[in-house]
Amino acid sequence: MNYLNKKTVEDIDVAGKRVLVRCDFNVPMKDGEITDTKRIVGALPTVKYLSDNGAKVILCSHMGRPHNIFNDVVKLDKKEKKKVDALPEEERAEATAKLLEAAKGDIKKFSLAPVAAELSKLLGKEVIMAKDIIGEDAKAKAAALNDGDVMIIENIRFYAEETKNDPAFAKELASMADIYVNDAFGTAHRAHASTAGVADYLPAVCGYLIQKEISVMGGALQNPKRPFVAILGGAKVSDKIGVINNLIDKVDTLIIGGGMAYTFFKANGHSVGTSLCEDDKVELAKEMMAKAEAKGIKFLIPVDTVVSTEFAPDSEFKTVPSDAIPDGWMGMDIGPKTRELFAEAVANAGTVVWNGPMGVSEWTNFAHGTIAVAKAIAESDAISIIGGGDSAAAIEKLGFADKMTHISTGGGASLEFLEGLVLPGIACLNEK
Ligand code: 3PG
Repeated sequence: MNYLNKKTVEDIDVAGKRVLVRCDFNVPMKDGEITDTKRIVGALPTVKYLSDNGAKVILCSHMGRPHNIFNDVVKLDKKEKKKVDALPEEERAEATAKLLEAAKGDIKKFSLAPVAAELSKLLGKEVIMAKDIIGEDAKAKAAALNDGDVMIIENIRFYAEETKNDPAFAKELASMADIYVNDAFGTAHRAHASTAGVADYLPAVCGYLIQKEISVMGGALQNPKRPFVAILGGAKVSDKIGVINNLIDKVDTLIIGGGMAYTFFKANGHSVGTSLCEDDKVELAKEMMAKAEAKGIKFLIPVDTVVSTEFAPDSEFKTVPSDAIPDGWMGMDIGPKTRELFAEAVANAGTVVWNGPMGVSEWTNFAHGTIAVAKAIAESDAISIIGGGDSAAAIEKLGFADKMTHISTGGGASLEFLEGLVLPGIACLNEK
């Protein structure tokens, strides 16, 4: 997908204009505190540019997946309703009331107020917080903005119309602004009202974060510095089929690690003990390896494997050749020979794209493969792109973040980008 020609904030005049900016402030929270501000920091260049250039900035974002509390009625979702319906009749009314009350509690739990406070700190000026989204408070505050002011409206997913991409809701949202800027890369794979629908009613351009994500990842996919090495890990082949299929036409080396490797072991005729294995994907794994061979692409799977008797952090473990996993043992990580093999491929690479851990990286005994790959990428001179999620977390935890060319702020979005799928939040933006 070529998005390199999309208009950016620099292609339009923003002075004195009301600019609605969709960000992805879906940040992790614990006890009311933000535990990782990366996505907020990632939005700063766009917010600062707009504010410095005299725009009246109206930020919006979702956080989590809350109840639709700003609709006229707070409704129970289907799962909750089923539970209530299963109760004896005399208990239903009370259970419903309790759940509805809890749903209203989402106002606090999923409020963007902590994001507004963090942004104020980072920008060094007040970020005005609206109590609602398209309600009286947001509209009055938007109307009263001075050039350079920054405000934020409440969690856009408090309205069910957001995720349904309801046109009337998108139009109402658009009516608060003159220009739409999408900078929410993490949510660009969703066709929602604030990520795509709103672009039908306003001039629509991208912010710096989306611009950076598409230029680095898009550049690597279209015109990579070679050799181009992709490293894919994670539990399931089924999660990565699209990515493998898209990358197999582009890379010089494809490396497979993590839980999904065992399906490839089985495709090669080896027994996998009690390892994760998707039997219905064995044929597909064979086809992928055959395709790679026909194309002359190096397709590397682990040559040795750390196996364990139990899926537990302190279980007994040993290293075995990948074609000799004993009965009753399960693969937990790549072995030392594989770490060397993968590191060698990375050392000579011009471009490396990495998505997904090599083993059960949250447990020390089985994190060595993921650490070795992270270290190899950090030490190489390759253009290095880390698709969000677990691999990004590993890179950060190990302190290698500043050694990477780019760590994507999108988990699902970066995966869909690597799959070559249309990202509605970017596709909807105006061309130069
Ligand atoms: C994410 O964290 O992946 C994005 O913010 C999208 O969130 P969603 O999966 O709830 O749409």
